[in-house]
Amino acid sequence: MTPSSSDSARISPTAHYTGYVWARHGVGAREFATSQGRLAWYGLRPLMAASRAFGGPTLEGLLLARHRVMDHLLTEEITSGRVGQVLELAAGMSPRGRSFATRFGDRITYVEADLPGMAERKRRTLARMGPSAGRHLVEAVDVLEESGPLSLAELSGRLDPERGLAVITEGLLSYLEPAALTTLWTRIAQLTGRFPHGVYLSDLHLGQENSGPLESATKRVISTVVRGRLHFPYTAATDAEAALRGAGFATATLHRPAEFRDILPGVDGPGADRVRIIEARAPKP
Ligand SMILES: C[S@@+](CC[C@H](N)C(=O)[O-])C[C@H]1O[C@@H](n2cnc3c(N)ncnc32)[C@H](O)[C@@H]1O
Repeated sequence: MTPSSSDSARISPTAHYTGYVWARHGVGAREFATSQGRLAWYGLRPLMAASRAFGGPTLEGLLLARHRVMDHLLTEEITSGRVGQVLELAAGMSPRGRSFATRFGDRITYVEADLPGMAERKRRTLARMGPSAGRHLVEAVDVLEESGPLSLAELSGRLDPERGLAVITEGLLSYLEPAALTTLWTRIAQLTGRFPHGVYLSDLHLGQENSGPLESATKRVISTVVRGRLHFPYTAATDAEAALRGAGFATATLHRPAEFRDILPGVDGPGADRVRIIEARAPKP
């Protein structure tokens, strides 16, 4: 059975946690920190403190590393002139859309998309913050829908076919069933292939790097919150890279955040080695 949007809406509360983490560390505007995010952060604090005390990973170290590396890779795509529009799926309360639209102004169009309830919440937050300096839109999407008004196909019809496109997913993939993940990657590969330049950036967790006791405890807590399992279908980076090529990307690389430690601050904190960053390129159109 294909999971429906009402199923995956269970995941939405996690966006408040990550939104709170970004704001707490001065990444983007404070307005993206919600009271739900604050509550979740305090709820997880004892578990994170215990892990840190024993030299283990923390969710914050992992989240900050992934976000900073993805910001860096996206910045390179835009400043090189390859990308003129960004589609961030499952954007939640991430500050990236607002920050990039403000920073790059007319050079890009930034489209954030999420399930209708979360998209509406984001629009209200942005409206309270006042007009954005650049072209910044928030749209409703359900990445699990194959067709219809909420589908990726429908949303992508509103993009400019003449400009290079970056598609981003952050914090979404572990919540998807393996079959749904493959379908999503196939759709994104096809979509990015229709533009003069197409790149896909995302985080991904590998099974072999997320099997310790803290990871298991964190997975149990998150699974309880979202009332569903987390999935790490790939054990090794080479398996995930092969799966991305199998889905239609011309090239796929899984970066370790620590590769960027000489040029980016805060990408090798506790937990940073539990996440990889996908950089996958579409075949030339
Ligand atoms: C962990 S949050 C990540 C939010 C943000 N990208 C970040 O990193 O802070 C997961 C997000 O996925 C969204 N989501 C869940 N299922 C979805 C679907 N089927 N289509 C689009 N977005 C979905 C949720 O609403 C939520 O905002």
